[in-house]
Amino acid sequence: MRRPEHKRPTLRGCGGPTLEDPMSFRAIKGMNDLLPADLARWQRLEATFRRLAALAGYDEVRTPILEETELFVRSIGEATDVVEKEMYTLARGRQSLTMRPEGTASAARAYVEHKVFVAEPLTRWFYLGPMFRAENVQRGRLRQFHQAGCELYGDRGPSGETELIELLVTFFRELGVPDVEVTVNSIGGAESKARYRQALVDALRPELGSLSEVSRRRFETNPLRILDSKEPEDRAALARAPSVLGLLDDEDRAHWEEFRRQLDALGIPYRVDERLVRGLDYYTRTLFELRSTAGELGAQNTLAGGGRYDTMIESLGGPSIPAIGFALGLERTLLAMPDVSPTPAPLCALVPVGAAAAREAQRLGRLLRGLGVRTDLDLRGTSLKSMLRRANAIGAGVALVLGDNELAEGVVQLKDLTGHRQENVPLADVGAAVLALLGAPAAPSSTPNRPTASREHPSD
Ligand code: HAM
Repeated sequence: MRRPEHKRPTLRGCGGPTLEDPMSFRAIKGMNDLLPADLARWQRLEATFRRLAALAGYDEVRTPILEETELFVRSIGEATDVVEKEMYTLARGRQSLTMRPEGTASAARAYVEHKVFVAEPLTRWFYLGPMFRAENVQRGRLRQFHQAGCELYGDRGPSGETELIELLVTFFRELGVPDVEVTVNSIGGAESKARYRQALVDALRPELGSLSEVSRRRFETNPLRILDSKEPEDRAALARAPSVLGLLDDEDRAHWEEFRRQLDALGIPYRVDERLVRGLDYYTRTLFELRSTAGELGAQNTLAGGGRYDTMIESLGGPSIPAIGFALGLERTLLAMPDVSPTPAPLCALVPVGAAAAREAQRLGRLLRGLGVRTDLDLRGTSLKSMLRRANAIGAGVALVLGDNELAEGVVQLKDLTGHRQENVPLADVGAAVLALLGAPAAPSSTPNRPTASREHPSD
């Protein structure tokens, strides 16, 4: 592929850094840096999702960020906000590529491309990763955001629906997200959906003049999306629109009713919202959303959304295989989660004074990490006082001070930074002494048959 021609920033040119103003780059609006201080909460969320998904039999899938634009046009639908105005699309030669705005289409493409259905009649996949939509940035709405999602292929439902909603409810409960409301609806299979669309068009046509501008446009391109509208003039017209559930055919109705019985049997409270259509065209039958009603998220309070998309696999060139899934927004979940920072693993600070001590400290560091102890080596070669100040600041429970005197005596000065005690410990006993003070490590070392701390000599 031909490389794009980049203009190199000139020292005195406009736009880039200059000698007078050396730092002017900023992250793109709506695309956030995640710094180490933020990531502890992210990791907790991701680990919880991975664990719950794996427990329910879902295996991870990773697909590329870039896909052919046509994949999203065909699956998400040409007349959706995502495809009409939110995709990051770039041209490479004659190819049009798009940064994935969601994960369902990419996963379905991979499922079809690798003919996964040949090997297994039922497939459960999950994914985690960044998605890209050029939206108006606000709280809970970003341009690069992260989703965790599950997709289930080969299930006609409604057990798949219930399984996925149960997984989501458990996930938010485990993270302590309060006041999560489940909303459900059915827009029927392809035929019921088409029938309802026609009924809606017929009902809204006489009201066209009173609809909002956006809805008048949607009337032509994607009338079902009018149901989503929050505009007061649309709400009035919609109050007279036919009920989608009233137009379901017998099979769709049976599916919908069994779905509700299953939710009831599991004791999952839910609300039926006949206006729920969601913004992506591929849905058939069941739709669901989980919203936070705690008020923290304002308008962007939908934490997760999903539904059945029984025609997508076939439309992407695969056999007729039903599918259902959901995705949840990690940023929104983090905003709704209580702010409990996970306790970091205990830390041992290595504080060497002088070059020979620094070398010994490196060896001690290796020993301690082998025992599963988190270590920090102060590399600055600065004063003891300043290194101890930093050890306290980074939350170390123990500091190991080493200078020429300690080396000569074959000891280390072990400072208990919480108990404010100190003692000299022979180098050979350092591992055991640190473990005794910090407690057992959180994660065991992966080294098989490792010797116990008391037998290990740092210079072995
Ligand atoms: P979606 O409703 O477009 O569905 O997105 C799912 C979730 O992603 C939302 O509920 C929200 O939490 C988060 N999200 C979406 N856009 C943004 C944004 N701009 N900023 C921050 N968070 C956002 C889907 O993407 C479907 N693929 C879900 C699905 C999977 N349906 C079937 N399988």
